[in-house]
Amino acid sequence: MAQLWKGRFKKELAKETNDFNSSISFDSRMFEEDIRGSIAHAGMLGAQGIIAKSESEKIIAELGKILDDIKSDSLQIDMAAEDIHTFVEGELTARLGDTGKRLHTARSRNDQVALDIRLTLRKEIEELEGKLKELIEVICKKAEENADAIMPGYTHLQRAQPITFAHHIMAYAAMLCRDLDRLADTKRRMNICPLGSGALAGTTYPLDREMVAKELGFDGITLNSLDGVSDRDFCLELAADLSIIMVHLSRFSEEIIMWCSWEFKFIELDDAFSTGSSIMPQKKNPDIAELVRGKSGRVFGDLTALLTVMKGIALAYNKDMQEDKEAIFDAVDTVKMCLTAFTPMIDTMTVLKENMRNAAAKGFINATDCADYLVGKGLAFRDAYKATGELVALCIDKGVTLETLPLEDYKDVCELFDEEVYTAINLEKCVSDRLVAGGPSTESVAAQIAAAREKINY
Ligand code: ARG
Repeated sequence: MAQLWKGRFKKELAKETNDFNSSISFDSRMFEEDIRGSIAHAGMLGAQGIIAKSESEKIIAELGKILDDIKSDSLQIDMAAEDIHTFVEGELTARLGDTGKRLHTARSRNDQVALDIRLTLRKEIEELEGKLKELIEVICKKAEENADAIMPGYTHLQRAQPITFAHHIMAYAAMLCRDLDRLADTKRRMNICPLGSGALAGTTYPLDREMVAKELGFDGITLNSLDGVSDRDFCLELAADLSIIMVHLSRFSEEIIMWCSWEFKFIELDDAFSTGSSIMPQKKNPDIAELVRGKSGRVFGDLTALLTVMKGIALAYNKDMQEDKEAIFDAVDTVKMCLTAFTPMIDTMTVLKENMRNAAAKGFINATDCADYLVGKGLAFRDAYKATGELVALCIDKGVTLETLPLEDYKDVCELFDEEVYTAINLEKCVSDRLVAGGPSTESVAAQIAAAREKINY
């Protein structure tokens, strides 16, 4: 297919140049957005009398047919074209002759591509939001089912204080709710129409930019034409949002991987969402979680690539910016793929409550509650802390737990202890007393679940 800019050139383009220059292999996915943008542009050109109304109507009708033909596979996108914009305009001109040639009046591929990416990413964000909401709901459901599953909470990967499995996984729901906020924010800033910026300096035609923006569902128009064509902040922002999502999925994956090891055995993954080993018959591997953890590197790489591409570009458009698409589409596709595999893996995993409860019984995770018991008896926290530390050391020596240490031993360390200490350090009570908002008690976690569900409108 011929280039749009042939006039000035005497020689044919070298094949190597076209191969290197062409973006159609990765921008053809924007065909629908490109055509919808052109339909809006043509409508405005007609309404403003910049081209004849009859020609505008013909262009709009034919663009609609081209869209249908591509969707129904009766028109193949020519992969030899320079980009999707060239292909669509070339096809239109092949069908309409001179009328087709009027479409690009008062427009440049620079504002056209800036428009197409915004439209494409807006749609992708909506899909991502849907997938995030599905995962949040699955987490809420799992939390509901395991509201009473006591497990050790950790700091430094050392058993620290008693929580529940529900409380633990609702932390991920909280992260993903922030991710939803970030995406909504990015979408809001992205949803501004750059069409009318032209190549860089706007145009002398009497455009109605607001009309185009409204038709395409934008909230407004870009303020400055140079910025309109050379701004890719929305790609950077989205790649940053996606990177943070991957940080969250990667941390969750890391825990899944640990939890299904024999060392923890807090969960068991469903056979349909784990894999075996070609040599070790006993193996059941958490490949999905590992791959999600691994793919986070790829998305961070996309963000780094985008930042690096953009940082040294003099205004306005430069061809470097064509590099935006592969990076941002890769980041979008990777996160979508990760969520698609991750959500059913979480949904189908079995939670081994008894193993968690056993792990919670070891490791003195009720030591803080033991100290708080002494505080209740009037001792200063520092002294209570010291006395409990001595008790823990004694337990370790004797090979017992705080629950099984005889009362005489308690009294030897501090006179204030009596029989009630055993109730105070009971793990179920330690959890149910933590009624503070955000805490692990069933009531607090139920409130967290309700808040997350409200966020995702369930
Ligand atoms: N394929 C190009 C891109 O993705 C479209 C814009 C071309 N503009 C230009 N001045 N060469 O950036």
